[in-house]
Amino acid sequence: MTIKLTTLAENTANYGCLGEWGLSILVEADGKRILLDTGLTNTVLHNAAFLRVPLTGVDCIVLSHGHKDHTGGLKNALAATGPAEIIAHPDIWKQRYSIRRGTARKRNISLPYTRVRLEQLGAKFRLSREPVRITDNILTSGEVPLVTDFEAIDETLYVEENGKYIQDTIPDDLSLIINTRKGLILILGCGHHGIINIIRHAQNITGNEKIYAIIGGIHLFRASAERIEKTVNELKKIGIVKLLGVSHCTGFAASMQLAQAFPDIFFLNYAGDAINLR
Ligand SMILES: [Fe+2]
Ligand SMILES: [Fe+2]
Repeated sequence: MTIKLTTLAENTANYGCLGEWGLSILVEADGKRILLDTGLTNTVLHNAAFLRVPLTGVDCIVLSHGHKDHTGGLKNALAATGPAEIIAHPDIWKQRYSIRRGTARKRNISLPYTRVRLEQLGAKFRLSREPVRITDNILTSGEVPLVTDFEAIDETLYVEENGKYIQDTIPDDLSLIINTRKGLILILGCGHHGIINIIRHAQNITGNEKIYAIIGGIHLFRASAERIEKTVNELKKIGIVKLLGVSHCTGFAASMQLAQAFPDIFFLNYAGDAINLR
């Protein structure tokens, strides 16, 4: 199986591309073209045009979770893809906020379009809490259980329920999994439930223990030094065969330590990066 991963939106951009806080990765594998996330605004369109990657003919759009930096570009993406199936968790429309303690800043980071509006634009929703199989070898993770004792959801993230702000458990956080003979390829949006929890879950649902590649956001940019250290140590124990390309919300400290732990396979995955795996 040949697998091509093209990053169409990311915080940092390679030559000719635009960067913005957010993520979008086009996955071409198993005869399917799957767009994971759509960035925050319109960089997906600019970058796809610059890279000469047509978005028409995309088979489906997978939303890793409802956060705006992954779904804000959905309207533009749908205009380019035409009517498309959208695979996501039913909680993507929850009202979400980023609130940092000690500051007055409260940012609404919810999905900015209603379901009805998106359906008018051609979205056909397939909402599931469980893994969704896209091909024999490609599936979404569905909800990821928290099993490790050191990975917790970022505590600056809240949902609004009945006028109260409560800590967001981000149940809609999902990843894309490609199951290959060489091991699993995990493509993450933000990985809010923690990379080790995601790996354990992916291993459980596929029965494949090996990790071949990890690409995308490993949400550690606000994590403690202790959590980063435990994550890196656990990843070293698990082992990654081929590639570790981190993006978006991984953060400098975690990226630096992952680069040191995996010097031969680590890279910073930016907008405009295209990876071929086989
Ligand atoms: Fe994000
Ligand atoms: Fe997020």
